[in-house]
Amino acid sequence: MTEQSGHDPDEVIVAQANEVTPGTTKKFMLPLPDAPVEAFVVNFEGELHAWVNRCRHVPLTMDWVENRFLDESGTHIVCATHGAMYEPNTGECIAGPAFGRSLIRVPIRVAHGQVLARIPEELR
Ligand code: FES
Repeated sequence: MTEQSGHDPDEVIVAQANEVTPGTTKKFMLPLPDAPVEAFVVNFEGELHAWVNRCRHVPLTMDWVENRFLDESGTHIVCATHGAMYEPNTGECIAGPAFGRSLIRVPIRVAHGQVLARIPEELR
C-alpha cells in the first residue's frame, strides 16, 4: 500500500482509510464485468491489506458472520467453513486444508484518506 495522489479510472473507492481501524475488516465489491466479486480490507498492525473473499481450499466466502474474518486474537484470517488460517499481511495459508496456498491480493492504495482498489490481474 502506498500513499499517492492522482486519479486512475480503473480504481474504485472501497473505504475511508480511517474507518478500518487496527484489528478490523471491511467488505467491498470489486466491479468485474460478469459479476461483482466480494473482497475485504483488513487493518493488520496498522497496515491495510485487501484480499478477495474466496478461500483457497474451496472457493467459498470466509467470514464467520458478516464482515468477521479475524480470529479472537486478531492475528489470523480464519475461514469459517473448515478453519484454514491465513496471514493477514501475506495472505498465505499457514494451517488447515489450504496450507501453502495464498489468498488473491487486491492491490490498494490510500489517497486523500480514501482506500482505492484495483481488480487483481488474476481475476481479469
Ligand atoms: S472452504 Fe475454507 S477451509 Fe475449506
